[in-house]
Amino acid sequence: MRRFLLASLAIASFFSFAALSRGQDVVQTPPMGWNSWNYFASKVDDKGVRAAADELVATGMKDAGYIYVNIDDTWEGKRDENGVLHTNEKFPDMKALADYVHSKGLKLGIYSSPGPLTCAKYEGSYGHEEQDAKMYAEWGIDYLKYDLCGLRQVMDQQAPNDRVAQMKMMHDAYEKMGKALKATGRPIVYSLCQYGWDAVWEWGPQYGANLWRTTGDIRAAWDSVYSILSSQEGLQSYAGPGHWNDPDMLEVGNGRLNIRENRSHFSMWAMLAAPLLAGNDLPNMKPEIKEILTSKDVIAIDQDKLGKQGHRVYSEGEVDVWERELSGGAKAIAILNAGSDRYSTHPFHLSLEKLGLHGEQKGRDLWTGKDITLSDNMPLEIASHDILLVRIDKVK
Ligand code: GLA
Repeated sequence: MRRFLLASLAIASFFSFAALSRGQDVVQTPPMGWNSWNYFASKVDDKGVRAAADELVATGMKDAGYIYVNIDDTWEGKRDENGVLHTNEKFPDMKALADYVHSKGLKLGIYSSPGPLTCAKYEGSYGHEEQDAKMYAEWGIDYLKYDLCGLRQVMDQQAPNDRVAQMKMMHDAYEKMGKALKATGRPIVYSLCQYGWDAVWEWGPQYGANLWRTTGDIRAAWDSVYSILSSQEGLQSYAGPGHWNDPDMLEVGNGRLNIRENRSHFSMWAMLAAPLLAGNDLPNMKPEIKEILTSKDVIAIDQDKLGKQGHRVYSEGEVDVWERELSGGAKAIAILNAGSDRYSTHPFHLSLEKLGLHGEQKGRDLWTGKDITLSDNMPLEIASHDILLVRIDKVK
């Protein structure tokens, strides 16, 4: 009898541990992959998603860590009389698409809203949360981006001018889907998209969120990238293995960003321990963009297993100096010239003292691959919107 009791206890505690740890063991480092929205927006279709998956493999991005292939808004069709949501004509068979993506060793992500409608006015999950979550699991979905959008109208209608009640509705909606995903038993990364409202970083993890957007939408222009970057300061303590701040998807290779801006954007997202979700046209990617997106050393900063988000240590003129603590006592230092006029911020002299570093530091410039020694008060010439990203393995 005693032995039976002990065995049952052991089994029970194993299952409760398994239940608790489910969802916690995904994205122990920030998720990496590709998302359709930033480049394709509503033009995404089955063929384009397959092509993106093929390219992740062919370009070596998959080997570099880009695993999630995420379909954003506009895949949704209509619900039938049983409430089952169907895909629209752009996605003839989601299960077959998931099988295809999985056959490449990749994972498939999808998008929905807690509101009746998504941002692009497609069908959302309002009132069908469990049903949709189950269907995602049946399809083999591995990642859900859940975008507030249409719920805002419901919040306005049901609780006009009552912010407290509106926020409660928002919390409840995210909690509901968090529970529904958990109940499927499938590890599905849960990505909250509500633009950082109500300090989501404080409560997101409670509802099983693995990441949460901290800002409004990014645009493929330097002012957008830099203003998002600057607004991340102060959020560093909320990030860690399994739960990340999300300053939005990458615009590397898109729009009007020049090569220096692309490099700085990518470097700083790595400093932020941000999700690295490429958002460009993979089949037509230029070699210099591929080089940025597959930079092993920079990805290693992002994916560092300590999971500590970097922070800005000081700014001088328009030069920002950031640091990120890495595992094994290493450190990454990023020096960004945010000035638009190359000469307005120069010469810049680095202060090791402000960085809490003592004496010369031997490191590696991660964009040239060359050794570099940082010394106190050293003059640095960094072009407008460019960056010096240094890894120091043995910090003094
Ligand atoms: C919102 C999100 C974007 C994208 C679009 C899709 O704007 O913030 O990232 O998902 O909706 O409609």
